[in-house]
Amino acid sequence: GDRVSQTLLLLGGTGDLAARLLLPGLGRLVDTGAQPGLTLIGSGSGTEDWDDERWRRRVADAFATVGADGPRATEVVRTTRYVSADVTREEDLRRLLTDCRGRLVIFFALPPMITARAAAALARIGLPPGTRLMLEKPFGTNAVSARSLNGILARFVPEDQVHRIDHFLGKSTVMNILGLRFANRIFEPVLNSAHVACVDVVFDETLGLEGRAGYYDGAGALVDMVQSHLLQVLALIAMDAPPTLDARDLRGRKAQVLRATRVWDDDPVRWSRRARYTAGEAAGRRLPAYADEPGIDPNRETETLAEVVLAVDTWRWAGVPFRLRSGKALAGKREEAVVTFKQPPRVPTGLTGYEQPDRLRIGFGPDRLSLDVNINGPGNPLELDQVNLAADFGPGELPPYGEVLRGAFEGDPALSVRGDTVEDSWRIVEPVLEAWRAGAVPLQEYPAGSHGPGDSLLTPAPGELRRH
Ligand code: BG6
Repeated sequence: GDRVSQTLLLLGGTGDLAARLLLPGLGRLVDTGAQPGLTLIGSGSGTEDWDDERWRRRVADAFATVGADGPRATEVVRTTRYVSADVTREEDLRRLLTDCRGRLVIFFALPPMITARAAAALARIGLPPGTRLMLEKPFGTNAVSARSLNGILARFVPEDQVHRIDHFLGKSTVMNILGLRFANRIFEPVLNSAHVACVDVVFDETLGLEGRAGYYDGAGALVDMVQSHLLQVLALIAMDAPPTLDARDLRGRKAQVLRATRVWDDDPVRWSRRARYTAGEAAGRRLPAYADEPGIDPNRETETLAEVVLAVDTWRWAGVPFRLRSGKALAGKREEAVVTFKQPPRVPTGLTGYEQPDRLRIGFGPDRLSLDVNINGPGNPLELDQVNLAADFGPGELPPYGEVLRGAFEGDPALSVRGDTVEDSWRIVEPVLEAWRAGAVPLQEYPAGSHGPGDSLLTPAPGELRRH
């Protein structure tokens, strides 16, 4: 670690993200002792009634949710301050910056439009050298705005000091993909089109909107989950081995994969689905229809479930569909990447019960790696059964936001998204967004607590995929 004193300036500090994820992650990180001498400054827009006291309480409450009560965490709570500012105005930003001691990390927990305006204002006034920026997703609202924001940032801060946040890269299971793939001899040789039938990346949640209308209704499932998190998971599963895990090697490998990724057959009408939930009961909770949630404009037709099938046009993956799906208010949590293998080229006559393909499953919650394989069952040894060989992982040392904050404090952007990659991620989903906007793909409905619309692109289920 890096021992200089640092200030974390949290723009949008009074918002939901800070309370639920950022501050708890920070509390845990600080408690590990890795960031001595950290000062936290929270900033909010001044339209609400915040002051030092209320802010300190917010930080203390967030730290308490994760039991961050060691001496370092207590010191951060004691010394933290609140500054009200309009971050799109140069004079407010100047005032904020002169208030900061040591090396500065600025976290933009702001909507993309405000982030862009704040970045433009910072570009005009300049930053103390060495300042690191952390930008929450969505980064821009399409490829053009992402490129323009990248251009603004490039004018006043080196790329390696820009941390575009994707907290999935801080999830321990996501990081475990690296060890699984590249520290074992047995998986890597079969992870290619000769052996793999398809790859699914699924993130089904039982949670609904949870009061996030202001953000979510303008995003929707495709932008909220697929454009960011699921494409990052795809990249980690599909990339070639990096020689080291430093930022340059790791992000270079991921960038190569995403550059080669596009909608299957270039046909977003055939290969995407969108749907939103109606009233129902999910995980024992009664949910109103999405369209009836407070703050939602039903005419925007924001989807709460998105599916898309992608092609990765590389030698290794040509012809293998990557099926991505994420939805809210579904019957059960299913958060995993599944590699479904082709059938063996020939099974000796006389063996039965091997219809299910082999599958490698990487579970993100609970954190688990497992393998579905066909072996002889208890009775007749020639009648096979599928068993699941599983290994569970404890939670990582830090929660995902703690992990990405550590990256920024230590100046290591390996776990953040490089500028060109974020533009490519928009390029991949844009044909889908355009087809939806044009009404070419109907917005389906599914009751909260159901399995989603009937004609999922994930069917045939991996278990039903036949010989290829
Ligand atoms: C966030 C999305 O980025 O990721 C949420 O905005 C989603 O809609 C969440 O629920 C899922 O991540 P986690 O860490 O809760 O598994």
